Order: sequence, then C-alpha cells, then structure tokens
Amino acid sequence: MSTKRLRVLVLTCSTRPKALGPAVARWLLDAVTDRAAELDVDLVPVGLGELNLPFLDEEDHPSSGRYRHEHTRRWSELVGGADGFVAVTPEYNYGMPAALKNALDYLGREWAWKPIGFVSYGNTSAGTRSVQHAKQVVTTLRLVPLGATVAIRIGDAARDGRLRPDPVRDAAGTALLDELVRLAHALRPMRDSAGAPPGPLPGSYLRRLTPDDAAQVTVLQRCCWVEEAVANDTMAIPPLHESVPEVRDWLASWDATGLWLDGRLLGMVRTRPDGADWHIGRLAVVPDQRGRGLGRRLLRVAEEAAGPDVRRMVLFTGAKSLRNIELYRGQGYRPVSPAGPDGILSLAKDVGVRPASRR
Ligand SMILES: Cc1cc2nc3c(=O)[nH]c(=O)nc-3n(C[C@H](O)[C@H](O)[C@H](O)COP(=O)(O)O)c2cc1C
Repeated sequence: MSTKRLRVLVLTCSTRPKALGPAVARWLLDAVTDRAAELDVDLVPVGLGELNLPFLDEEDHPSSGRYRHEHTRRWSELVGGADGFVAVTPEYNYGMPAALKNALDYLGREWAWKPIGFVSYGNTSAGTRSVQHAKQVVTTLRLVPLGATVAIRIGDAARDGRLRPDPVRDAAGTALLDELVRLAHALRPMRDSAGAPPGPLPGSYLRRLTPDDAAQVTVLQRCCWVEEAVANDTMAIPPLHESVPEVRDWLASWDATGLWLDGRLLGMVRTRPDGADWHIGRLAVVPDQRGRGLGRRLLRVAEEAAGPDVRRMVLFTGAKSLRNIELYRGQGYRPVSPAGPDGILSLAKDVGVRPASRR
C-alpha cells in the first residue's frame, strides 16, 4: 500500500447566510482531528459557497476535461487532488441542496473512484432523504458512497446555532472517517489505472513510481534479488539490503515505472541518462508472474522513455544470471566486455536516430 498521505475535502454544502452548515462542519473537524492525524489524513474544509461557482456555465461536457472558466479549473484542481470527500449537507425539500448538485455536475473524472461520506442534518428525517438523493447522483460520477453515515436531528442536537456535545455523535464521525480512509486506500488501484497505459496482464497497468511506493518497491527488491544472490553466490547485491528510506531516496532521483495489478506491484524498472547512454536498471518481476512477458514489456517501457539524443542503452546484471542475460540478448543487448571481478556483466545496445519519447 502506498504511504502517501490522504487528502479529504470536507464540503460544507449550505450557502445561505446564517446557515447551520458551518457549525456542523466545525463539529466534524473537531471530532475527527486526532483520528485524522493517526491515519495520515489531511482534512481540508471547503465551503461550496466560497467557490463562487455560478450555475454550470461550461459549454463542453465535463467528461471532456475541457474547461473554459477559471472557477471550473480551480474546482477541478481541488477535487482532482483529493482522495475522498465528506459532504456536510442539509436537506432541502426532501433532496440535496442545489449548490451540491451544481458542484457535482461541474466535473467528471476528478470524482471517479473516490469515497464520499455524508454528514446530514435536518428536521424529522435528520437529512437522510438528502443523502439518499445524493447517493443516486454520485454513483453516476463513480464516486463511491460509504455505508457509515452521521445523521443529525437539528431539534435534538442544536441550540443557538451550535451543536451540543455528544460523544455518540463524535464516535459516529470517527467511524465515518475510518471507513472513508479504508475505502480510499482500497480504491487507489481504480484511481491509478484510470487512463494509465495497460500492462500485459488483463487489468494490469503501468504507473510512475514515487517515493510513497518505497515500501512496495523494497519488498519487490528483496523477493526478486534473492535468486540473483543464489545464482551468483554473493550477498553483495544492493537491492537486497536497501532499507525503505534508501529506496525512497533513489525513487526521488530515478525515473521508475511500476507494473501494477489490483494494488500489487508486479514489476518495475528504472532509467536515467548518462551522457549519450541510457541507463536501465532494477528490472524486476515477481517470481510467480515470470514467463508472461512482463519483463519484456517493462524493458520496452524503459527503452521508449529514452530521449532522441540517446545513442546506447546500457544495463547490468550478474554474470551468472542466465535468465536475465537470455532476456537481454533476445532484445538485442550484447556484453560490453567480459564480466569484471565483481561478477557484474554490462550489456549494451546501440540505437540509431529515433523520434522523441512516445511515453
Ligand atoms: C429551502 C429549505 C428547504 C428545507 N427543506 C427541508 C426538508 O425537506 N426536510 C427537513 O428536514 N428540513 C428542511 N429544511 C429545514 C432545514 O433542515 C434547516 O433549515 C437547516 O438548518 C438547513 O440547513 P442550513 O442552515 O445549513 O441551510 C429546509 C430548509 C430550507 C431553507
């Protein structure tokens, strides 16, 4: 699982003067702040009334992602950068407020595969009809509504425009955040794979690796380079020993791509230029998925990432890593010279003048 912090927008959906909404949002933020810190979640309060979104005024369908207005681009950036949402919403005439519907309608893929929880409030229904109304709309946008919910009856809970303290309600708020966070993590592969280049296995996809993937990369390295250690009779192999912080460091300086399936890192490769050479390294595929073309695909991804000035692809492997050598030879690589005393074999492939990167 990625260690990236989650960003959750807390949307205050009422916009009228002296609305109760801001007080409800304030209660929620206070009630879940400690839990959010434990869960590595940044809570970002957003008042829909402060976004200055007019009634939807974009010409193109939101699924196009073409936005003419600055207010839409700002909203798109805010929603696109979030991992989940809590809508703090009143019930207006048995439904969600128009401001919420309008804000939802503005965007498309920015909402997709992210969880949304509801804190509703109202009179006898405690705002639950508003939530039911919103749920059927949000699923069209591929937002995933939570089962956990907080429903507040204003007559019981509020006095003089504020919410009375209520530990049961506080616990419900925390339970809502817990479920939201679990779902946000579980849905990450769906978010990552949307629009990503597909991998060779059904449902697999390629995604750039970031320092937040260091834990998964460390596990992959340890399980992949054990065979190298056995084949070459040496433990002096850096990927076997690197700690998570060390992996985090190199992920920040190399361009690395991961091959993923349902949130599992199946393989990776890293690249970087060195003069006219293009260094390709750490090509790895999990042992149970070998022989299915993953390594060849990753190698192709690495080669395609090279700029037009690159004249030579260079990679290294253990001199006794026969399986790797066979793969590289099959892709046109040849040893540069006999293996050195450290048992490391360098292989290279010359490349002609090529078009700029297609990745
Ligand atoms: C236009 C409007 C429609 C309302 N409709 C309902 C309703 O259908 N059900 C309900 O329980 N309360 C309804 N109410 C009462 C609201 O729940 C209550 O006024 C609440 O404070 C509204 O939230 P706000 O103060 O954040 O705007 C309505 C209030 C307004 C202003």
